[in-house]
Amino acid sequence: VNDVSQLQEMLWKDPYPLYRLLRSEGRAHWSDFPRGWLIPHYTDVLDVLRDPRFGARRDDGPDVGRLRISPELDRQFRKTLFFMDPPDHTRIRNQVGRAFTPRRVLDLAERIEAIANELVDAVEASGSIELIGDFAYALPVRVIAELLGVPARDLPRLRRWSDDTAVLLVEPFKTQEDVDRAEVSLAEMRKYFEAVFTQRRAAPLDDLISGLVSGTGPLLGEDELFALVSVMLVAGHETTTNLIGNSVLSLLNDADSREVLAADPARIPDAIDELLRFESPVQVAQRVAHEDCVVAGQEVKAGDPLYALLGSANRDPSVFPDPDRLNFERGEVRHVAFGQGVHYCVGASLARLEGAIAIQTLLRRLPTLKADFETPSWGKRVVLRGLTSLPLRF
Ligand code: HEM
Repeated sequence: VNDVSQLQEMLWKDPYPLYRLLRSEGRAHWSDFPRGWLIPHYTDVLDVLRDPRFGARRDDGPDVGRLRISPELDRQFRKTLFFMDPPDHTRIRNQVGRAFTPRRVLDLAERIEAIANELVDAVEASGSIELIGDFAYALPVRVIAELLGVPARDLPRLRRWSDDTAVLLVEPFKTQEDVDRAEVSLAEMRKYFEAVFTQRRAAPLDDLISGLVSGTGPLLGEDELFALVSVMLVAGHETTTNLIGNSVLSLLNDADSREVLAADPARIPDAIDELLRFESPVQVAQRVAHEDCVVAGQEVKAGDPLYALLGSANRDPSVFPDPDRLNFERGEVRHVAFGQGVHYCVGASLARLEGAIAIQTLLRRLPTLKADFETPSWGKRVVLRGLTSLPLRF
């Protein structure tokens, strides 16, 4: 690889040959850009994510390289779960657990089904669907809006804010323009949610925000509350879009696997884990070494960034035989698509539920779905792996 843009292109087009090479050449590889250690093997990825010596807190602020960032945005970043370590991280996760209960997720099942059906109703007569725009993008943001308890009329704004912020939070390759756009969106989003917090404090409803504001005070500061609500919106949006889009593409490319699920829809909830393993929506988790130590057989220095390559771990043949094949007979699929350790995805059960209902609805209602494209349009992202469009006919 000669330059960064070539590396970036290899990763977004098809990262798996590079991951295979990295796994065969060693356990830890230094990269100059993005600067840090790349960790490609499954067991090493688990070790990094479970080891408190590797934290999410970055003493030098968010990883924006030479880009300019306002003090306000910097402060906001540091209050975000993604960039916190215990004990602050633990305190905030406990507040999430209190408000985001398994019952709240289960209660959403009927609504998710209704929304998925409505989205199919809207295209049914036309004989075609652009799966990302018409379905996979629309479903998760509506579900999160209902979970948080904000009205559907605000969806366009929530979507824009979420898209702008997602790049900043996780993508290593970003531009000053990306940062500037996220600054504006975060300021608008903060004003919006502060008004919602005031309303819910005055008149609580049975929604997640009401649950969270009742925990503010000593347990959850005002900055932390906003950081938490905004990160739930952002973290649960594009990731779930990508789960649905990537899964449909994987099934279009593998007629036998698709037939298995179409014939027995009860298998879909378990199959979602194999689909998550196969084309993971989040390819990388980032950490920083808080002390000098040895990881994956490599000495690393305090302050060194580490990139746990989730997408590579999920294709590690020592754990998943014949890893480049979708296979619903693997038994329990212990993938790392939702991460591992203290930062394990807060929304994993909601994401699984949305993914399963989405695939069930599509296979049931549009059984003749077929590709209406030559090559898949992958977005030019390296952490959030997903399609920008997926035109289909039925
Ligand atoms: C298929 C969909 C999803 C995938 C693949 C996914 C993946 C992940 C991963 C890999 C992490 C760990 C990041 C790290 O260790 O640095 C994470 C954390 C997180 N996820 Fe998800 N996620 C999904 C959906 C959701 C949903 C629906 C929500 C919320 C409603 C959500 C909320 C969060 C939050 C708040 C965190 C931060 C947790 C922490 O740092 O303690 N995610 N997710």
